[in-house]
Amino acid sequence: MKKILSLAAIVLSLSACSGQQTAETAAPVTVKSLAGDVAITATMPADAKATYPSRGTALARDFVHMPPLIPHRDSYKITAKKNGCLTCHSTEKAARMKATPVDKSHVKADGTFDDKYYFCVQCHVAQADNKQAIVENTHTN
Ligand code: HEC
Ligand code: HEC
Repeated sequence: MKKILSLAAIVLSLSACSGQQTAETAAPVTVKSLAGDVAITATMPADAKATYPSRGTALARDFVHMPPLIPHRDSYKITAKKNGCLTCHSTEKAARMKATPVDKSHVKADGTFDDKYYFCVQCHVAQADNKQAIVENTHTN
C-alpha cells in the first residue's frame, strides 16, 4: 500500500511539471500582416457634421404639393408607440411648439391624424448641408 501511494505521489508531481513551458524557453511570437510590411499612411477625416438652415432660410418648395423639406434634424424617433415628429407638428401641439401643423391632407375628416402619413420621413427629407457629394438628379418640375 505504501508503495502504491508513493508511486502515485511521483506520478502526480511529474504531471505537475509537464504543464506550460516557462516564458524563458518559449519561442518569440512573430505576427506578420498578410499585407506585408506596409505602413498605413492614408487617413480619412471624419465626415462633416450636418448643419441645418437657420429659421426662415430653408429652401422654398420647388413645385406645387411638394412635401416641404425639413429645416432641422430628421432623427426624431418614429416607432409604433410614439412619433417624435408629431410631438411638435400634430394639429393640437403645433401652435404651442411654434411649429407648422401637419398639412390638412394628413388629417382625417374627424380631425384625427391619418396613419397613412405616419412615417414622415418617407416623404419629407431634411435639408442638411454635410458637404457630401450630391447624387446627380435630372428631375425638372
Ligand atoms: C422640437 C420640435 C420639433 C420636432 C420634434 C420636429 N419638428 Fe419639424 N419643425 C419644427 C419647427 C419649430 C419648424 C419651423 C422651423 C422654421 O420656421 O424654420 C419645423 C419645420 C418643419 C418642416 C417645414 C414646414 C414648412 O412648412 O416648411 C417640416 C416638413 C418638418 N418640420 C418636419 C418634421 C419631421 C418629419 C419631424 C420628425 C422627423 C419633425 N419635423 C420634428 C419643430 C419640430
Ligand atoms: C405620403 C407622403 C407624406 C407623409 C408620409 C407625410 N407628409 Fe407631410 N406633407 C406631404 C406633402 C405632399 C405636403 C405638401 C402638401 C401640399 O402642399 O399640398 C406635406 C406638408 C407637410 C407640412 C407643411 C404644412 C403646411 O401647412 O405648410 C408639414 C409641417 C408636414 N407635412 C409634416 C409632416 C409630418 C410631421 C409627418 C409625419 C407625422 C408627415 N408630414 C408625413 C407629404 C407627406
